[in-house]
Amino acid sequence: MTVNPLDVTSTLLSEWLNALGTCSAPGPGVTRLVYDPAWCQAHRWLAGKARDLGLAVHIDGAGNLYFHDPSITPGNVARPVVLVGSHLDTVIHGGRYDGAYGLIAALLLAAEPRPAGSTAVVAFATCEEEESRFRAGLMGARSMLGQVEGMELDTVVDAAGITWRQALEQARTRGCAGPLADGPRPFAPPFKPTAMLELHIEQGPVLENELLSLGIVDNIAGYRRYRVRLHGEGRHSGTTPMRMRRDALSGAAEIVLAVEAYAKELGEPAVATAGRIEVQPGLFNVVPGTCELWLEVRHVDRQSLAAMEVELGDRCRRIADGRGVNIEIEEASRQEPAALSAEMVRAAETLAAGLKIPHRRMPSGAAHDTMVFARAGIPSLLVFVPSRHGVSHSPEEYTDSENLATGYRFLTELVTRIALAPPR
Ligand code: HGY
Ligand code: MN
Ligand code: MN
Repeated sequence: MTVNPLDVTSTLLSEWLNALGTCSAPGPGVTRLVYDPAWCQAHRWLAGKARDLGLAVHIDGAGNLYFHDPSITPGNVARPVVLVGSHLDTVIHGGRYDGAYGLIAALLLAAEPRPAGSTAVVAFATCEEEESRFRAGLMGARSMLGQVEGMELDTVVDAAGITWRQALEQARTRGCAGPLADGPRPFAPPFKPTAMLELHIEQGPVLENELLSLGIVDNIAGYRRYRVRLHGEGRHSGTTPMRMRRDALSGAAEIVLAVEAYAKELGEPAVATAGRIEVQPGLFNVVPGTCELWLEVRHVDRQSLAAMEVELGDRCRRIADGRGVNIEIEEASRQEPAALSAEMVRAAETLAAGLKIPHRRMPSGAAHDTMVFARAGIPSLLVFVPSRHGVSHSPEEYTDSENLATGYRFLTELVTRIALAPPR
């Protein structure tokens, strides 16, 4: 392999991130939804870069990408590997760094020379993590680990009614997905991970506020996501007295504020968000009869998250009943919180201290591919670099090249040590 670590840490990361960020649907920021044309463009760009570095490229049946030394054979699960990477998809109008930073760092790192006796290192880009198109719970990581059931390919659908199978087939015709596996499950793991690492922007304000360069994540928050449908009574806005109304939108508005107040009552790290509202018919002169609200709650502690789930439902139903509005609460998706490898956290803290990089141990309020690997019992670690003003999932997302380089250099050192002595 020919990549010089010094070259990587100066400007290359920013240049590659800017280039990958052009693989986007039109509009502000970066929009790269799994299997869409921008996603396929990014897929091909990464494969080309990997081959330029002398790496072999493997594409699995779900469209996950792997970059590795040509001497490694995908499917040979007898030879454990260290997996390093992140996700290729983005939110709608997201930033250039979320997911992209970790997968570019992994790709470059996989091309670097490795000491004799090291466990092989395989870089990856998961096909999907954001639930921006399909809501199927971290499709990329779950498919990498062979956790996807066949029926999901036909039951998971996007807003246009396209199924996972149909969208995947379209990507396959573009050369961005491999064949489905034989047997009961559609995706078979091409590699057996002995450890997994993900480098990611923090997406929050902690590291910047505390003037730190690295976050070593010990726990990842879980979440519950709900579609809440309210059915009141559509009526004439001019002739219907206020006392006679069953206004679905007013009910939704009260729920939005109640959800916000609930999270503030609980205090950090609890968070609650109403991310979307759709009203029918949405006219000046009609009291809204129906409304759909998307709600999400998160917590790092499993019991607290379970309690939030119950209390949120109770509060929503109380508000709806008080207004004579019918309510349906449907769970859209969920992730359980995940504790990461204590051994790898300690190793990372020891290394950061040795390298005199200002760092701290911290939870992640954002979900990540890492949580799927950790819950599968694979020693896993997530490392953060600062986000400017803590902003992410926005075109304003930014991390300066010095922080990008520090994170890359640290990950390179950490993976070298882990590859020489994988966690038990
Ligand atoms: O929603 C999340 O926490 C992640 O960015 N997908
Ligand atoms: Mn991410
Ligand atoms: Mn994200």
